[in-house]
Amino acid sequence: MIVSGSASQALAAALADELEVPLAEVAYDRFPDGELLAAAPGVAEANPDRAVVVGSTVSSDAHLELLQLQDAVREAGTDEVVTVLPYMGYARQDEAFEPGHPVSARAVARAVSSGTDRVLTVNPHEEAVCEFFEPTATAVDAAGRLAEPLPADLTDPVFLSPDAGAVDLAETVRDAYGEGEGEVDYFEKTRHSGTDVEITPSDVDVAGRDVVVTDDIIATGSTMSEAVGVLGERDVGRVFVTCVHPLLARDAYAKLSRAGVEAIYGTDTIERGSSAVSVAPVLADRL
Ligand code: R5P
Repeated sequence: MIVSGSASQALAAALADELEVPLAEVAYDRFPDGELLAAAPGVAEANPDRAVVVGSTVSSDAHLELLQLQDAVREAGTDEVVTVLPYMGYARQDEAFEPGHPVSARAVARAVSSGTDRVLTVNPHEEAVCEFFEPTATAVDAAGRLAEPLPADLTDPVFLSPDAGAVDLAETVRDAYGEGEGEVDYFEKTRHSGTDVEITPSDVDVAGRDVVVTDDIIATGSTMSEAVGVLGERDVGRVFVTCVHPLLARDAYAKLSRAGVEAIYGTDTIERGSSAVSVAPVLADRL
């Protein structure tokens, strides 16, 4: 039985379809003092052997809601609790960046671990974050899904990442798109602050060619818009932007549109207008 967090309802439904198991009735409420109450009456009624709680932790409330749903299904007597974190919030805070800072990814992983037998997550920024869970979480790679919404007629395509860390994702998208057809390259990125990013381009020739830029996440859109801006100065063809996690915070969508992107394609790990493809089939394979 699939149990959905409020931020992951479309993905949870797709997963239930894919696995041909029921989607539990859930209720999301809030007390007058602001405290949350997420409940799973459908699990108490059906009493399944296994419950799969699906919740992207896109906010502090979503974190708390996930812990409540895990506890609710355990309280209902479910033998096995599996937690799917399609998008793991705080995953990028994976070390103490200054003295006195927390390792926030570890703190949330410990909390999530306490309510589950197993954790699956999708393309965390660094796979090492899985080791913060007890037992170690499994990371699923959904980047190949990003090739699906791309047009079939890309002109002499270049598959690019905005920094060296995401070049594997660009390669995965290239392989899924055209079985090794298409050049893969990457730019270099220097981050000066949360929103100030400097991109140093490679010398890849993009004139008249379509470019697909892939990253694990678009948060403020600073990284992608800088990369797209550089391409625009080079007589590029069409530019498509793809990412696993379309967080698209603040004015990210407008920023990318102004930079001249043709389309933004993400998955449903975070449910947005740009969630063009589902990670459900990839997750279902591991469930
Ligand atoms: C960091 O290296 C990540 O891969 C992304 O490039 C980054 O988190 C994107 O953030 P933003 O959209 O705020 O530039």
